[in-house]
Parts: sequence; C-alpha cells; structure tokens
Amino acid sequence: MEKHHIDLLIGEEVLDARIRELGEEISRDYAGKTVCLICILKGSVYFTCELAKRITVPVVMDFMQCSSYGAATKSSGVVKLSKDLDMAITDRDVILIEDIIDSGRTLSHLKDLLSQRRPASLKICTLLDKPERRVTEVEVDYTGFQIEDKFVVGYGLDYDQLYRNLPYIGVVEFD
Ligand code: IMP
Ligand code: MG
Repeated sequence: MEKHHIDLLIGEEVLDARIRELGEEISRDYAGKTVCLICILKGSVYFTCELAKRITVPVVMDFMQCSSYGAATKSSGVVKLSKDLDMAITDRDVILIEDIIDSGRTLSHLKDLLSQRRPASLKICTLLDKPERRVTEVEVDYTGFQIEDKFVVGYGLDYDQLYRNLPYIGVVEFD
C-alpha cells in the first residue's frame, strides 16, 4: 500500500445532520407507505443504518452486493452481482441506497436489474456524489453531498478494505 494519510472532508456532526434531513424528506415522500431500503454491500452499510433510524414510516431492509472495483482506486468498469436480495421486491416501494456514485455504472446496472422485477416504485439515494466522474447517466433522487473528484474513505467507504469504520468522510492523500 502506497504511503498516504487521510484528511478530514465531512465531519460526523455534518453527516448526522444531513442524514437526518434525508430521513425526514423520505418520511414525507413515503407517507402512508412501507419503504424497502436496499443496502448495497459493503460501502452503504453505515449510511443505510443511520438513514433507516431517521425514517418514521415502516421500513424493511434487504442487502445485495456487486462490485466494480478491485483493490485499487480506479473503476474496472465491470459490474458483477455477488449477492442477490433475499426478498421479492415486486409491488414494493424500493429505494436503492449507495455510498457514492462515481462513474454511475454500478447504479445504472442495478437499476435496470431491479426494475425488471416490477417494483411499485424505484428511487436512488446516495450519501455522496462525484458528478464530474459520471460516464453513465443515472437519475438520483436523494443526495447527501456532492463532492469533488477525490478518493474518499470512511463511513463505510474503503481504500483496499481499510477505513470503513471511520466515523467521518476523509480524503486519501498520497504522500
Ligand atoms: P461507479 O460504478 O463508478 O459509480 O462506482 C461506485 C462504487 O465505486 C461505489 O459504490 C464505491 O464502492 C466505489 N467508489 C467510487 N468512488 C470511491 C471513493 O472515492 N472511495 C471509495 N470507493 C469509491
Ligand atoms: Mg461500493
């Protein structure tokens, strides 16, 4: 692993406040419904759990895993599904929860896949978005923060599987 350090980008309190707002917005938008949160492993685990705690309408959760990254910090462009949902999502109001949208490939692939199962509705919620990096257009319904084109870690996001447990978002700076 190259020598590097982590600089603070988004602190714990700022994250918490924004996730609270997203939870309130989702609760208003889904009034009278049960929302099905789909957590994309592993990066979205922290965000999904914190968001779910702030949603006041009934919530069900499920998990799926797909990967477009190897051990490095650049996308391979290949998206593969390694764990499917346990639940059927037909006729459910589904929100796909992402940690970060970079090229957009992962999400547009997942959105296509899940819409074939005929959910009642399908929206996308991401904690972070790097719009400059977009290769595949994808409509995002809820965004926590737009950030610059920097490689970030923490709050579920990793660099070679490390740093997911940081309670804040930091930028990896190579020394
Ligand atoms: P996309 O398919 O290029 O949009 O890639 C999305 C996935 O790449 C995310 O779910 C992350 O796992 C990973 N990723 C993209 N940017 C970063 C980053 O800055 N830090 C850590 N992982 C990232
Ligand atoms: Mg990921």
